[in-house]
Amino acid sequence: MGIMKSANVTSAPSRLALGGGNPVGKVEYSKFPLFSETAIERVSDVLREGKAIGLGRFHSPEITEAEETISRYHGGREVLACSSGHAALQGALAGLEICGGDEVITTPYTWGASTSCILHQNAIPVFVDIEPDTGLINPELIEAAITPRTRAILAVHIFGQPANLRRLREIADKHGISLIEDGSQAHGARIDGVRVGEVGDAAGFSCMGGKVLPTTEAGYLVTPSKDVFWKAAMIGQHMGRSPETDFPEDLKPWADSLVYTYRVTPLNAVLLTEQFGRIEGWIAERRRHADLLRGKLAEAKFLRMPDYADGVMPVYHLMTMNFDAAAAGVSRDVFMKALNAEGLLSFGYVPSPIPDWPRLHWQTYAGPKASWLSTLENAGVDYRNMALPNCRHRVANSIEMRFDYVDDQVAMIERMAEIILKVEANIAELRDLAPTDAS
Ligand SMILES: Cc1ncc(COP(=O)(O)O)c(C=O)c1O
Repeated sequence: MGIMKSANVTSAPSRLALGGGNPVGKVEYSKFPLFSETAIERVSDVLREGKAIGLGRFHSPEITEAEETISRYHGGREVLACSSGHAALQGALAGLEICGGDEVITTPYTWGASTSCILHQNAIPVFVDIEPDTGLINPELIEAAITPRTRAILAVHIFGQPANLRRLREIADKHGISLIEDGSQAHGARIDGVRVGEVGDAAGFSCMGGKVLPTTEAGYLVTPSKDVFWKAAMIGQHMGRSPETDFPEDLKPWADSLVYTYRVTPLNAVLLTEQFGRIEGWIAERRRHADLLRGKLAEAKFLRMPDYADGVMPVYHLMTMNFDAAAAGVSRDVFMKALNAEGLLSFGYVPSPIPDWPRLHWQTYAGPKASWLSTLENAGVDYRNMALPNCRHRVANSIEMRFDYVDDQVAMIERMAEIILKVEANIAELRDLAPTDAS
């Protein structure tokens, strides 16, 4: 949509950068991710020593150390280090033996890998709507979606906000189904004193370089169940073929090399260990900066951070805010253009509800074939035209921003707030600049 300049604005001195005024200045991010000198030295040692093979904990002391470190962080649960978050999530489903035609209730508002891990198991995602303020799955819509084929709920802690795990656990237990957590954006987030990843029957976390716990590319699975751990290991880790000391006897006949290659490298295992040593400090910095921003935006009328109940402790992987287009009199996209022109890079993270995506529409799809299309066709699933009103509203109205503030960046938070408040104060000018965009 083009920005239109109306005659009365061109003649008056414009204050918004979008209308030709001076921008506040670019919101900068310090270098991210940070790797300590020890981490870099240890990675170099791994290379010097030629430790190239990552065949799991029994072959690599680095992988053992990483898994033990993460396990301690997660209260002694089983941990399987993996090549990515997707690998960990698919491992979670495989470990729970969720596959061909099983239904998994999940959110339409996330990164695609939260859904593709279900599809790659030949299982069927069943989408339910989200809570409008946070974008998290709405637990109260889940029971109506449960059928005899439902095997699990897969909840995503989007943007570092913990989903309502107490309620999700209650529902899963009541119906005898599993709870899977996607903690890829929420390492260390807590709800009711419990860390995400510690309530589900299995949880997958991404540790790609942009996450709260960044390596280069890696992930990990957390589960309270040894059974889930070993079954996940069997599909992605080449375990069971070599003499792992505690590989279960009953699984041995089924261990072979019909596997996905979801192994972590010793290089990333070292990074996992080292980065976990710093995670709580980084989370504290993210929270400190978020609290500061919240305080500075207390008077904002159109752009608002989500409100969290007592006991909810997000980790702010991305900053998400809710834009009130009706009150502002301009669309979210016009408001974002004004923020961007002032120097604050903002975007809508989820482009559309996942069930709208053409690669799920076997009825009409004409692109390169995808492995799941036949599964969806056989199940007769039709994702076209799902209502999902809250998801659609959020897709059109939320604004996301990077928030990788893990060292002292108070000046940048002040600049973020200054930009937002400047655009709000000049909302009349923005309406004039973009009369056709008002919603
Ligand atoms: C919510 C969510 N789930 C899953 C993934 C997949 O993680 P990865 O890219 O490490 O496979 C990501 C990140 O990319 C994510 O943000």
